Amino acid sequence: MKIFSDALELKTYLKAITKSIGFVPTMGALHDGHLSLIKAAKKECEFVVVSIFVNPTQFLEGEDLQKYPSNNEADKRVCTYAGVDVLFLPKAEDIYESDEITLIAPPIRGYVLEGATRPGHFNGVLTVVNKLFNIVNPDYAYFGKKDAQQLHLIALMVKQLFMSVKIVPIDTVREIDGLALSSRNIYLSKEEHKEALKISRSLYEASNMLRSGELEVQKIKEVMKKILEPLEIGYIEILNYEFEVIDEIEIGNTIILVEVIVGKTRLLDNIWL
Ligand code: PAF
Repeated sequence: MKIFSDALELKTYLKAITKSIGFVPTMGALHDGHLSLIKAAKKECEFVVVSIFVNPTQFLEGEDLQKYPSNNEADKRVCTYAGVDVLFLPKAEDIYESDEITLIAPPIRGYVLEGATRPGHFNGVLTVVNKLFNIVNPDYAYFGKKDAQQLHLIALMVKQLFMSVKIVPIDTVREIDGLALSSRNIYLSKEEHKEALKISRSLYEASNMLRSGELEVQKIKEVMKKILEPLEIGYIEILNYEFEVIDEIEIGNTIILVEVIVGKTRLLDNIWL
């Protein structure tokens, strides 16, 4: 596995690669969720690039940028064993200058849900993903469905900016007890981890209700709220795949999304129906 930190060096190197390139952008602290993205890339593409970059522009003032989990040596081992061809490991100064052009998330879909609680977050995500796509020029790029709004906005960027990369959504990986994998799970104490299981339980109950014929959004939200209490709920939202609010569930075109704050940790989860 070759490791690069310089963007232009990597871009020049990859220009000479004639194989199909699969790209997995990450912020490191790699877990099985990331591994499933890498595995999908390995299956579909002849050459796989992973980036590890804790992108400062997607963190708001007071968020966990300084303490975001990082373990580059372990991550390098994971990438080597997973058969990654190139690891891009830049520093902030390799990616950003001091006076920067920034992409702005769309005024509606970029400022609801996580975009409402973290205004500006998606500007940072889109800006860095755009830069990374320009450096790597991948044929395919892999993103987890757990970050559904991020996935939606990146796919929208690709469509609206006429980019040619194909975005591949990958199913959420869960711990055996149902908790969706996230690098931030390590912030949870044992007790908080137990409390966090209410998130997947509320989503499973929602899909049970659907299976028994309940399609009314309000009723499903109420049951989910009861399961999640007394946790602080950021949002429970039921949207279609275009991220529009709906009154009735349509199987094959609905996502149920939850954001919950457990202790000091903001956790996201969702199911796609
Ligand atoms: O999901 C992440 O890890 C990040 O938001 C991403 C897509 C790598 C951009 O920094």
